[in-house]
Amino acid sequence: MTAPFFEVENLYVSFAGRQRLFQPTMPSTKAVNGISFTIEPRRTFGLVGESGSGKSTVARAILQLTPISAGRIRLDGVDVTRVQSDDELAFRKRVQAVLQDPFSSLNQVHQVRTIVGDGITRHFGIKPGPEREQRILGLLDEVGLTGEFLDRYPYEMSGGQRQRVSIARSLAVEPDLIIADEATSALDVSIQSQVINVLRRVQADTGVGILFIGHDLEVVRHMSDDVGVMYLGFLVEAGAAEGVYESPSHPYTEMLIASAPVPDPEAQEERRRLRRTFRRDTEPPSPSDLPPGCPFESRCPVSMDICSREMPTATVARHGGYVRCHLHTSGPILAGESVVDFIRSATTRK
Ligand SMILES: Nc1ncnc2c1ncn2[C@@H]1O[C@H](COP(=O)(O)OP(=O)(O)OP(=O)(O)O)[C@@H](O)[C@H]1O
Ligand code: SF4
Ligand SMILES: [Mg+2]
Repeated sequence: MTAPFFEVENLYVSFAGRQRLFQPTMPSTKAVNGISFTIEPRRTFGLVGESGSGKSTVARAILQLTPISAGRIRLDGVDVTRVQSDDELAFRKRVQAVLQDPFSSLNQVHQVRTIVGDGITRHFGIKPGPEREQRILGLLDEVGLTGEFLDRYPYEMSGGQRQRVSIARSLAVEPDLIIADEATSALDVSIQSQVINVLRRVQADTGVGILFIGHDLEVVRHMSDDVGVMYLGFLVEAGAAEGVYESPSHPYTEMLIASAPVPDPEAQEERRRLRRTFRRDTEPPSPSDLPPGCPFESRCPVSMDICSREMPTATVARHGGYVRCHLHTSGPILAGESVVDFIRSATTRK
């Protein structure tokens, strides 16, 4: 069997607790707790979850911006978990980031020509001149911008245009993988879909793999082939996007879906009813003090005794991916029912 193109295996990231004068050291924050996934060329893996669930920490760990506590990251079968400084340039060429706020990630004192062209010079040795100019124009065209933008500064562009420049800058080094962390979250809805279409076209043209991180479930669904759902640093469910969205297997995934608005009033009412069954007023546990059992237990409407005692193991879900929930392992609890039907009937019985 060939190795996956990109693989995150059993990744853990903890942040050391703060040292305070004359007070005990704060406990460490367990931001990412043993998550694994793979991305193949031309595929997008979407990561969703509430704020603080650890999505950006995963991105930063892959980009080597945050030290990892345990686990492995491999690119083309090669271990890139801790890239040595000699290999850093090669790694930065292969893995690029597109972040939420292009205004702060683009150098304000440079024109688009330099912002996009720098990587071409650094990684391919092509000095400023006609050849580099042609490449920059080609990249701008790829992201839907004209040569008119060559002389613009970031502050002379809209948010959507800046994000296109940010994508062109990433593409300039011909990466194998793009980490897009909330890349469209700060944009208006119509601009969001334009930028997503740019990313999809770029992927079709270049074959780049994408890790797409977002809050908005529909945006992530639209963009992704596969998705992973994160809660308190755990990947509680993962699989093909259609399967996870159409047939969620984890109560938390169901809660996220029920929280997203839909235009149909009847469907919206049904979601509202389902949403009420979750204990949304309950604070999730602190990532500095994780419970021994299921991290979602305090909010789950169908928790059982075992849930507060034992962490569920990963099992195969109905959609063919995997889920971490005792409903799927502790006896025939679901009896063939989907999780959403089970929650409905269990909460009606109560
Ligand atoms: N540098 C840091 N030092 C200490 N704790 C951190 C640090 N960065 C993140 N955390 C903590 O790690 C957890 C995960 O944060 P992270 O930013 O990865 O979440 P997220 O899913 O990206 O959230 P959001 O959707 O708001 O961007 C949070 O509890 C956060 O407070
Ligand atoms: S393991 Fe238990 S508490 Fe956790 S999501 Fe499943 S049923 Fe709910
Ligand atoms: Mg984040």
